[in-house]
Amino acid sequence: MKIKSICCIGAGYVGGPTMAVIAKKCPQIKVTVVDINEARIAAWNDENVDNIPVYEPGLSDVVAEARGRNLFFSTDVDKAIHEADMIFISVNTPTKTYGEGKGLAADLKWIELCARQIARVSTTDKIVVEKSTLPVRTASTIKSILDHTGSGVNFQILSNPEFLAEGTAVEDLMKPDRVLIGGDQTPEGLEAIQSLVDVYAEWVPKDHILTTNVWSSELSKLTANAFLAQRVSSINALSELCEHTEADINEVARAIGSDSRIGPKFLKASVGFGGSCFQKDILNLVYISRSYGLDEVADYWEQVIKMNDHQKKRFAKKIIRSLYNTVNGKKIALLGWAFKKDTNDTRESAAIYVTDHLLFEHANVAVFDPKVREEQVFVDMDYLNTRSSEENRKYIDVVEDPYEACKGAHAIAIMTEWDEFKTYDWQRIYDNMLKPAHVFDGRNILDRKKLKQIGFQVYSIGTAD
Ligand code: NAD
Ligand code: UGA
Repeated sequence: MKIKSICCIGAGYVGGPTMAVIAKKCPQIKVTVVDINEARIAAWNDENVDNIPVYEPGLSDVVAEARGRNLFFSTDVDKAIHEADMIFISVNTPTKTYGEGKGLAADLKWIELCARQIARVSTTDKIVVEKSTLPVRTASTIKSILDHTGSGVNFQILSNPEFLAEGTAVEDLMKPDRVLIGGDQTPEGLEAIQSLVDVYAEWVPKDHILTTNVWSSELSKLTANAFLAQRVSSINALSELCEHTEADINEVARAIGSDSRIGPKFLKASVGFGGSCFQKDILNLVYISRSYGLDEVADYWEQVIKMNDHQKKRFAKKIIRSLYNTVNGKKIALLGWAFKKDTNDTRESAAIYVTDHLLFEHANVAVFDPKVREEQVFVDMDYLNTRSSEENRKYIDVVEDPYEACKGAHAIAIMTEWDEFKTYDWQRIYDNMLKPAHVFDGRNILDRKKLKQIGFQVYSIGTAD
């Protein structure tokens, strides 16, 4: 089937950028992105493209080019489903916070709602594409819902997981290492796979488009994230050892990364990985493994998460220890709140957990992030539910100027690797701080030697003091 009309349910960090790029590259296809969140859709439709709800370098240009031509954002979910030949499901799949599988399994509530809505509204045959990251065998749940409508409509279900990383979404979508499409290995399934291959083939070289069965595709997505997160936890585990042995983690990373079998990417020691997917997807893998009785497999992957929790906690403890074991009433400036640079996404950011730890010790925390708004910081802290909203507001101050954030502080903690932090006037910052002035570089981005020359006490991850 030649695709003429696409609907994407979910206008978030994946749905928005992915559909914007499909619309840009396939002007002959009408692409409608729908969401139940009215404010989000309104922001995607904002006349000023700089106000779209997802910050990604280059994204506003892509949206400006395609929006109103063949890219549309709407809250009319039924209409978009009805008109589409192909429907992408890009809704959120967070970790369950209640009941069976609480804290581990993916909550598939929103996926099921989408499937039921598609079943109810459709009057013509459709290809339904899982874009969200889902536990292996979810497609069978969707299929079972869709096949019991009694309307005579035929549905094909494909798995097409997204591998973009936030901060580089547009680049990743324009030039993906690979596109993965899983489908039934029946004549109808293969035909559906081909329809989606044809969409991507408009800009992705054919040999970068991999096709598999549905289950391999679903599992590959969870596994890809687990492997990446495992590398970060591996290098972070070594960072602690470096601090005790005077080996330097940056030198170690360079030395091992030069082995082409290991490779240089994803070996940056940090305060710990964040983001909406690594933790949730690994927990999901742990849950699935346990549900098949594979305890060793589950324990193996669970350790990646434990290491990450340890890294965040040990960073906060390091700050407290260095400030003479008391931060009560002391001002600590946090530079960066997003989980990585070039995004306004803060989900599971290490900054949240480090702040939580510092607040238990009654520190006063001043937060500055170039792209995160004040209200988001409080939403994140309130969501933890470890103290009242009033208390969070009493101890945390979100400021719009980094120099203001650092003024009168005992210490600065770098939480996100924003490039602009490197170009600040660190002498000026030092002059306005209480002494001894500390910098805790949770991202190893600052020039340690230069800061020491200015007079700072510097802690970098994986380097002995
Ligand atoms: P998100 O929370 O930013 O966006 C999801 C959107 O879906 C929200 O705007 C929500 O309102 C909407 N939604 C939920 N239920 C709906 C319904 N029934 N009808 C209409 N809209 C509905 O999430 P995200 O970061 O875009 O992630 C979506 C999926 O993609 C997740 O499964 C995630 O694991 C996966 N993924 C995310 C990334 C990433 O970098 N963020 C990368 C690859 C894969
Ligand atoms: C990750 C994957 O990289 C994407 O391929 C995947 O599509 C996505 O998850 C997803 O499924 O959502 P993302 O979470 O956006 O993308 O960002 P990453 O670049 O992977 O970074 C994750 C975290 O690890 C960040 O906090 C980052 O700062 C940290 N990190 C990364 C390190 O601490 N060290 C590194 O060397 C690399």
